[in-house]
Amino acid sequence: MIELKNISKSYNGKTNVIENLNLTIEDGQLIVLVGESGCGKTTTMQMLNKLIEPSGGDILIDGKNINSFDKLELRRNIGYVIQDIGLFPHKTIEDNVATVPRLEKHPKTDIHERVKTLMQMVDLPYDEYAQRYPRELSGGQKQRIGVARALANDPDLILMDEPFSALDPITREQLQDELLKLHDELGKTIVFVTHDIDEAIKLGDKIAVMQSGKIVQFATPEEILKNPINEFVATFVGKNRLWKTPEMLTAEDVMIKGVAKVNPSRSVAQAIIVMKKHDKTVLAVVKKTGIGKEKLLGIVGANRFTGISDHNTKISDIMKSNVKRIPRKTPLTEVIKLRNDNNILFSPVVDEDDNLIGMITNTSIVNVLSQIMPGQEDY
Ligand SMILES: Nc1ncnc2c1ncn2[C@@H]1O[C@H](COP(=O)(O)OP(=O)(O)OP(=O)(O)O)[C@@H](O)[C@H]1O
Ligand SMILES: [Mg+2]
Repeated sequence: MIELKNISKSYNGKTNVIENLNLTIEDGQLIVLVGESGCGKTTTMQMLNKLIEPSGGDILIDGKNINSFDKLELRRNIGYVIQDIGLFPHKTIEDNVATVPRLEKHPKTDIHERVKTLMQMVDLPYDEYAQRYPRELSGGQKQRIGVARALANDPDLILMDEPFSALDPITREQLQDELLKLHDELGKTIVFVTHDIDEAIKLGDKIAVMQSGKIVQFATPEEILKNPINEFVATFVGKNRLWKTPEMLTAEDVMIKGVAKVNPSRSVAQAIIVMKKHDKTVLAVVKKTGIGKEKLLGIVGANRFTGISDHNTKISDIMKSNVKRIPRKTPLTEVIKLRNDNNILFSPVVDEDDNLIGMITNTSIVNVLSQIMPGQEDY
């Protein structure tokens, strides 16, 4: 476990670029630091690696202060993929990958085997690539070698500072997938820096959103998407972000909030006026239970009015009360299945106290799904 406690950092005694930063990284997690350029991501990484020292606060690794570790020793146990790859241009790929194991003076044959394994792992076969120089590789291949080199000494911790930022979107996605696979297989603790929130969401077990040297929110991708802690995070995440991850949608994300309602003691004639006013064919029948709270009693559709000659008939007498209520946190997939299986058109959504908070219709679902797939309307 790595703990950053009240870390501050100023360069040359100027104002703090990191201020009061607290972060706990559990073993085996892939943590993403995300934030705008200059917010302090690289600075934070460099403090973990003892490349620079905090001006205040403590960094603990498994409870031991980082000051008690020897710098070189520590670095050999940390793989670092730096922001601009940093391969040695005059060394072959094999020599690049072997850098740290050679410093450690491992037996030559072991190192050779290790390099082969690592190159295989990042999908660059040894026979084809080992004797090339960095300039003879594409950007994506160089990035892969950067990752292989960071893994060479089997470190406990891997720091990756915007390793994929210079790549085209397809290569980038490929490397992201490979990284996730490696993380699954090796179970290493990884701290990954990016300024791209999409990348952060895809990769992170948890995401630390940074702003001006502080962590403003540290939470799972889902939590950050659904409950951004403030306006800054909400804007950074992007207002439409939610729609990009359909598996995270729940009933309350796809419901209409402004539901047309009627009191059960009202007459059919009054209900018709409400329907006309709201341009709706179905009303929720509710009873007020508190300020802004209305218990759902049932629904009433215009189809129920046919054959009723007495327009003074009360809504409570004709409403459908055994309607299927959908708890607001129900996953969208379940909502759709439930509606299909029971042939339901109108699904009231309720909170934990059975108060009505919205209504799901086919239109409300389609409206949201159409936002998930923007630009697809041209078919
Ligand atoms: N050696 C240095 N001397 C003085 N100021 C520095 C130094 N290194 C970084 N800074 C300043 O510290 C702040 C944080 O820089 P840092 O490199 O940590 O940002 P970052 O979040 O990694 O940004 P980017 O996304 O652009 O890489 C910036 O304002 C930067 O100008
Ligand atoms: Mg940086």
